[in-house]
Amino acid sequence: MTLAAARALVAGARSIAVLTGAGISAESGVPTFRGPGGLWRNYRPEELATPEAFAADPSLVWEWYAWRRGLVAAARPNPGHEALAALERRSAAFQLITQNVDGLHVLAGSRAVIEIHGSLWRTRCVGCGEVRTDRTPAPERIPPHCPCGSLLRPDVVWFGEPLPEDLLGRSIDAVDACDLMLVVGTSGVVQPAASFADAALRRGAPVVEVNLDPTPLSGRATISLRGRSAALLPELISGGPEGGKS
Ligand code: OAD
Repeated sequence: MTLAAARALVAGARSIAVLTGAGISAESGVPTFRGPGGLWRNYRPEELATPEAFAADPSLVWEWYAWRRGLVAAARPNPGHEALAALERRSAAFQLITQNVDGLHVLAGSRAVIEIHGSLWRTRCVGCGEVRTDRTPAPERIPPHCPCGSLLRPDVVWFGEPLPEDLLGRSIDAVDACDLMLVVGTSGVVQPAASFADAALRRGAPVVEVNLDPTPLSGRATISLRGRSAALLPELISGGPEGGKS
């Protein structure tokens, strides 16, 4: 019944905004941050994903990112990513906002993707600021350096750092314009991404949450679906023209 109601909302929506988190990539074999298998050498992400941690020990932070690059390099998009790519193809207006840095949405065929926390596959020089694509599973030397001599860092957003203003602005615009928001596989504890759903709800746009477990959003969401995104998302979009599978 709830799934049927959510499917009807998806089938009737004209402008869809989607926010995804680590849970959507879990079934591709990429561990979530706060779930089992997410801890590397017993560090919490808040201890490594910070400018302070990088300043104190760039090699340690790079070793963590090299581990994560290795996991993601071996991962393929799963039916959850693919369902969102299919939903985009049939939607009049669609914007995917992801907190994930793994690049799996783009690999699945999604086009309108805002990687609001950056990408594992880019480096940024802390000196000259040059951003480069780097798809090697691990940098040749840790920590890697720019030809200008300064350290390279992953081009991702760390705790305590602001989101890139243009990406945040485009995300807010999409949330403000949507008549349906999907929130998939995120614990909803990291701001400002966590507040997007409330902004949609305040405007009266329905919000459908897909998550394995209850989150702080579950009580406020219009519909909260409990289960695996790789199973639920294909079901959710199966009411539209590209659907048929259930
Ligand atoms: P979390 O690890 O905090 O949360 C993952 C969420 O996915 C949890 O709510 C799980 O219940 C859910 N989940 C796990 N497996 C699932 C599945 N198969 N199907 C559906 N849901 C599933 O990850 P995020 O919310 O993405 O930021 O974390 C947000 C941010 O905190 C990350 O982008 C990162 C992190 O520290 C930075 O590094 C700045």
